[in-house]
Amino acid sequence: MDFKFTEEQLMIQQAAKDFAERELLVDIIERDDRAEQSASHIKKLAELGFLGMMTDPKYDGGGMDTVSYVLAMEEISKVDASISVLMSVCNSLVNWGLENFANEFQKEKYLKPLARGEKIGAFLLSEPEAGSDATSQRTTAEDKGDYYLLNGTKNWITNAQLASTYLVIAQTYPDKKHKGINAFIVEKDSPGITLGPHENKMGMRASDTHSVMFNDVKVPKENRIGEDGFGFTFAMKTLDGGRIGIASQALGIASGAFERALKYSRERKAFGTEIFNHQSVAFKLSDMAVKIENARNLCLKAAWLKDQHLPYGTASAMAKQYCADIAMEVTTEAVQIHGGYGYVKEYHVERLMREAKLTQIYEGTSEIQKIIISRSLLK
Ligand code: CAA
Repeated sequence: MDFKFTEEQLMIQQAAKDFAERELLVDIIERDDRAEQSASHIKKLAELGFLGMMTDPKYDGGGMDTVSYVLAMEEISKVDASISVLMSVCNSLVNWGLENFANEFQKEKYLKPLARGEKIGAFLLSEPEAGSDATSQRTTAEDKGDYYLLNGTKNWITNAQLASTYLVIAQTYPDKKHKGINAFIVEKDSPGITLGPHENKMGMRASDTHSVMFNDVKVPKENRIGEDGFGFTFAMKTLDGGRIGIASQALGIASGAFERALKYSRERKAFGTEIFNHQSVAFKLSDMAVKIENARNLCLKAAWLKDQHLPYGTASAMAKQYCADIAMEVTTEAVQIHGGYGYVKEYHVERLMREAKLTQIYEGTSEIQKIIISRSLLK
């Protein structure tokens, strides 16, 4: 087993670190307060090739591997998880889904501008009454001959406002349950689409999150992805890879908080010495380091399996569940090590703790990952 990264992987990691530290860090506290994404940061992310980093160069992507993606996601998430979730949705849900399941016409028209970072994508699966229970889709896509008619509401949609390309999951044949679900490419400016207000969230506040309403939205038949009834499988297969993105985001949040806590513990003095010299603090940091190392190994293993075209669904669920859960634990301890300073914004760890919470919820809660993992034990 080779634990060394290639020159190219290290370069990508360094580029992501430089971008995060030089550009994202300066105003992250204000953007989090105002709940605003910065257009210039998204443009820079596109220029760096981070919005289509894993897409085949044939479709104008960067052709990088999933290991590089994990390294870049970790570095960016150490500083700004609101922008790393945008990056994760674009790369591992939207672009990957299109590259693997769309036809050539659809890839030419929709994937290429997404992979170049000229357009942003969004993945619309969750609904007001179908979050974890994703087979219970209520949004309908009625077959009208040469088009489908979409009606319904999608909830908690990342990039809803910024995106121009939506991948929408909807029910065409309710009596067939999940086998009647389809996936569609929908242009956001189609007549009949309206957005709810920006969600006022606890964390990842700058991330663009809205509900999206469809009222008699016409979708050309040529925009259906795959065979009739393929939509649920499409969503599940796409989420298998998406969860590697969120796992590496959680890893980044945890390692960002850990680095800040370690630094603080070597500067802050109490009872005549740096607090790192108190075993109660040093042991916390030691436990945090072990959890982060385990989390990183799980992420990289899932990424490696995907890059080798080996089954990775269970590995990605394990990585997502573990990384998200330890991100919550590590960020909570980082706040504790900072004491009162941890509870104010300037020290960043309270924000990282708020961000960690969401990684236990979206792209399948920690409990959903346990369903997937436990079912795999019986196979
Ligand atoms: N790959 C391929 N097929 C899969 C699959 C996978 N990973 N997982 C399930 N399937 C198939 C099953 O084989 C089954 O097909 P058959 O009937 O033909 O055998 C079908 O899908 C239904 O599967 P289950 O019987 O397992 O369905 P279930 O209802 O018991 O549970 C679940 C499925 C795994 C719990 C699923 O509902 C799930 O993943 N829920 C969580 C949804 C989720 O992650 N939402 C996140 C929203 S996206 C988001 O957050 C993005 C963002 O903006 C950040």
